Amino acid sequence: MSPVTGTTACGSAPAGKGPEAADLSVDVGPLSLTNPLMTASGTAGLGLEMEPFYDLSAAGAIVVKTLTKRPRHGNPMPRLCETPSGLLNSIGLPNKGIHHFIDEVLPDLAGRAARLVVNIAGTTTREFGELAGMLDGLPGVDALELNISCPNVEGGDLPFGRDPDVVYRLVSDVREATALPVITKLSPNVSDIAAVAQAAKQADSDAVSLINTLLGMSVDWRTGRPGLGTVVGGLSGPAIKPIAMRMVWEVSRKVDIPVIAIGGVTTVDDVLEYMCAGASAVQVGTTHYKTPDIIPRLVAELGAQLAGAGRATAREVIGSMRTP
Ligand code: SIN
Repeated sequence: MSPVTGTTACGSAPAGKGPEAADLSVDVGPLSLTNPLMTASGTAGLGLEMEPFYDLSAAGAIVVKTLTKRPRHGNPMPRLCETPSGLLNSIGLPNKGIHHFIDEVLPDLAGRAARLVVNIAGTTTREFGELAGMLDGLPGVDALELNISCPNVEGGDLPFGRDPDVVYRLVSDVREATALPVITKLSPNVSDIAAVAQAAKQADSDAVSLINTLLGMSVDWRTGRPGLGTVVGGLSGPAIKPIAMRMVWEVSRKVDIPVIAIGGVTTVDDVLEYMCAGASAVQVGTTHYKTPDIIPRLVAELGAQLAGAGRATAREVIGSMRTP
């Protein structure tokens, strides 16, 4: 069995059918993608780190690790801790700052990805707008993703990601600063994710991506030590897929905004299940640590899977779930 094709609802691909058999292109609001596979922020560095593994243009979009206004060192070690079906992290947004990215990285990166999405995080809603303004109109930048949902920074995702009024103000500040497509990345650590998505939409976010990591922790009872230096961190990987699926479906049903699904994607079936539940595109995260070329593998299998199920386009799967 292919490493990217799990036990499948669609059946296996017929011999002789290549990826060209189906049209994989999708639209995420104003952002047109050649295929629905995107990297999840933080799991593919600033993009160029993935070049030893594949041609960046194979992905529908490359999303860079979160950039902040000033450089950040990140959180104390250990920052990663494996659990039986997911990965806990508390990285703390380490990065060299937006100026370093614009001056030293973007000139090399521009034009290599089919679409480049720059993920940003401010310390205030205004600072989100400031960062967006700095990236507006720069060659090679196709869209912004707003990280209002990192659980691992001081104050956590609480000041930005949980309050629909704050989300409305934050996205409005960004909207005023840029004409770029804006994707707002949502936290699952809320009681009503659709209300947060609705606020992002009302402030003219072009899409929402969900979910960021779920708050979690682990401890070794023998040593008494927690798995993470900050004790509590964010859980990602296959363990969170059913939760993310529920949230993707809920937001797609209740809010008229394109949704990008994130959470535990390892197979083509995961991709198609998220699309069936309403996602227009899908980000792949934790799997990168095991299979760095997971994106081109998934893209290569997607067309065959669709053709095997008698589908001519990826688009027709979006929101095709039948509700009992
Ligand atoms: C981190 O850098 O701590 C992870 C980023 C995130 O969860 O948004």
